Amino acid sequence: MATTDELIKGLNEDLAAEWGTVIRYIYQSGKAFGLTGEELREILQGEIQDELGHASFLTDIIIDLGGEPVTEPKPFEKPDGLKAMLELDLQMEKADVDNYMAHSELADDLGLVELKLKLEEMAADEAGHGRELRRLIRGL
Ligand SMILES: [Fe+2]
Ligand SMILES: [Fe+2]
Repeated sequence: MATTDELIKGLNEDLAAEWGTVIRYIYQSGKAFGLTGEELREILQGEIQDELGHASFLTDIIIDLGGEPVTEPKPFEKPDGLKAMLELDLQMEKADVDNYMAHSELADDLGLVELKLKLEEMAADEAGHGRELRRLIRGL
């Protein structure tokens, strides 16, 4: 049986990952050069808004559950070149999908219906980001 502490710990790992993603996408936007880089900058700017929404929701829900939300990002790698960057992003978006699905099960165990569904919706957002990244990688 899941506990609230276990759920808070999991959500804080998700939150650190979201802060890391926001910073990574801003960093990568700065390192995206040329015509393809310009397109990538636009796409990443859109995704940053989604990740900020996720971070904001997680911050609120962790506080509502009686926890203390993290404000430190999870560290990330800084590979050179657009393709290596996007491959890293794809791998990290996939990990986010898995983590949100696992934590939605914890929320379900605890009878937290809104949280369960919201985490599944966030998993779907990350899967959508992954799909967009796969399309970009195919064209490189
Ligand atoms: Fe996210
Ligand atoms: Fe994402």
